[in-house]
Amino acid sequence: MKIFIDTAKLNEIKEALSWGIVDGVTTNPSLIKQAIDALGKGVDMENYIGEILRAAGEGHDVSLEVTGLTEEKMFEQAKRLHDRFNSIAGNAVIKIPANPSLNKTSLQDYDGLKVTRRLSEEGIRVNYTLVMTLEQALLGAKAGARYVSPFAGRIDDYLRERAGISFGKGDYYEASGMGEGEEILNDEGIVSGVDLVDNIVQVFREYQFETEVIAASVRNPRQVRELALTGVDIATIPFDVLKRMTSHEKTYEGIVRFTADIVPEYASLFE
Ligand code: G3P
Repeated sequence: MKIFIDTAKLNEIKEALSWGIVDGVTTNPSLIKQAIDALGKGVDMENYIGEILRAAGEGHDVSLEVTGLTEEKMFEQAKRLHDRFNSIAGNAVIKIPANPSLNKTSLQDYDGLKVTRRLSEEGIRVNYTLVMTLEQALLGAKAGARYVSPFAGRIDDYLRERAGISFGKGDYYEASGMGEGEEILNDEGIVSGVDLVDNIVQVFREYQFETEVIAASVRNPRQVRELALTGVDIATIPFDVLKRMTSHEKTYEGIVRFTADIVPEYASLFE
């Protein structure tokens, strides 16, 4: 499984890259907002994004999202992002929302697919994002997307919100943990975000799609473990979750004991 870092904070990207475990970067307008909020006003966006692409480097794709909501607007923005940034390290990927409509019944519902097809035909790689169903993922792949991004954590949120269960954003969600005899919560048969990813992975494998699946909206290390067990191509993981993945209480305890047990004879090897 490849690991992408899900952040627009350059310091986090650089730190995680220095660990030698990062294969790519994903951003979105909310993550850019968080980065800008942390940096304060006056950031030169063009330079900043350029720095991210440069830091990630060749072979490490960086997803940048359009903000337009119509086919034409998204196409124009995607071209602009690609023309400006892909020359830096050949690693710019354009994020297109699966359904760019602010109004559930608008015809714009289909513009995500149309623009994905057009961009893919021009050789511009698309990350088809905000995917919440296998059906959306299937269509994105058929339209030529390089990646599809199912939002695992947000499906868990959706299930818990509908059931009136209170939860914290990072809380682990177990599909069948609703108590004995109770109905298993589901969204049209999907019982968790991991289940959604698992379904998509199985179907893409069955039909040998070239499109890779990026498990997104990842909230905690246990979810990463379950995503890895699905065989998903990529998980895009926030920096705080990556940090938590490095540790275990017994690892700390172990290093304290090993350090206390160093005898002078052994220490002399390193002098
Ligand atoms: O990768 C998509 C991600 O940034 C959304 O995450 O936690 O806001 O649902 P989240």
